[in-house]
Amino acid sequence: MELKVIPLPEENRKARFIDESKLGFGRIFTDRMLLVEWKADKGWGDARIEPYGPFVLDPSCLVFHYAQEIFEGLKAYKWADGSIALFRPEMNARRFNRSADRLCMPELPEDFFVEGIAELVRLEKHWVPGSEGTSLYIRPTMIAVEPVLGVKSSDHYYYYVILSPVGAYYAAGFNPTRILVEDRYVRAAPGGTGEAKTGGNYASSLKAAQEAKKKGYDQVLWLDGVHHRHVEEVGSMNMFFAYEDCVVTAPLSGSILSGVTRDCVMKLSDMLGFRVEERAIEIEQLMLDIREGKVKEAFGSGTAAVITPVGTLGFKGEDYTVGNGGVGSLTNRLYDTLTGIQYGRIPDPFGWVRKIA
Ligand code: COI
Repeated sequence: MELKVIPLPEENRKARFIDESKLGFGRIFTDRMLLVEWKADKGWGDARIEPYGPFVLDPSCLVFHYAQEIFEGLKAYKWADGSIALFRPEMNARRFNRSADRLCMPELPEDFFVEGIAELVRLEKHWVPGSEGTSLYIRPTMIAVEPVLGVKSSDHYYYYVILSPVGAYYAAGFNPTRILVEDRYVRAAPGGTGEAKTGGNYASSLKAAQEAKKKGYDQVLWLDGVHHRHVEEVGSMNMFFAYEDCVVTAPLSGSILSGVTRDCVMKLSDMLGFRVEERAIEIEQLMLDIREGKVKEAFGSGTAAVITPVGTLGFKGEDYTVGNGGVGSLTNRLYDTLTGIQYGRIPDPFGWVRKIA
């Protein structure tokens, strides 16, 4: 696949943000994006890095009606010496193709997924913020653009990548969040699309999140879609519960996302001397364990969320404080180790980091 770089006209060069402490998440976009089209009769065309800007799309396009869409999330980090690194991008490439397969979309060559992103980030490297807790969020996306109202898989797609300098995902930053255990609405069911990174999973989560916010919670923890009995995930992150000597997380049942950060947390917890258990977590038992002080810490993991401490779980009208409600020591150590590797502050024993500039 050829990759062409279209010159950026002076008038398309935005003023770069100044105050990195006010970045928030995903509101500012850089000057360029990557775009490539796939057509049923031609396959993938040539890729272009071009000025960031709106698409003109027919209102009948399949993505607008039947949500044939997938995406990914990964980050570029600026190191103290000014160099730029991606973090495990090949994991995102593989997951993107698993999502593509589930949504009947064409797979993208994995080396192109990684190299295209690397080239775009290199061109936009002045947009990678450098202060603590900030990074350049990378959003590869594929949408179905065939203009037709019949329910079918599209014969025309756009794959594109946009970049956004970001700070913390949750407004509270690295502080304990309040999560409501959702026992009415369902995010995903066995055999559904819960394991794919597709917009519909997020659209269907909005109602529960809105109701949880009204009750003073930051997000919801989803339970399994059949019995509402086992812990699944929190839309924007996978969940972990730390006991005295082990860390527990839900298994990849097919209805939860296989998080890249989840995989890192499992490997890092093991490295820090904790046994890692991937097993069904029964919600009543979990709440009892929290009440009895057996669960010392709870936290979520995700690319956007990094490691997010959970101080309180709301369940059936009651609040359960995890540990002392603050940020636990394992949560802190995992955060420091993971971000230490990502920002090149400590050695990377796993070969996760890929320097690109
Ligand atoms: C990510 O962590 O990259 C995600 O895609 C979560 C998103 C909903 C912000």
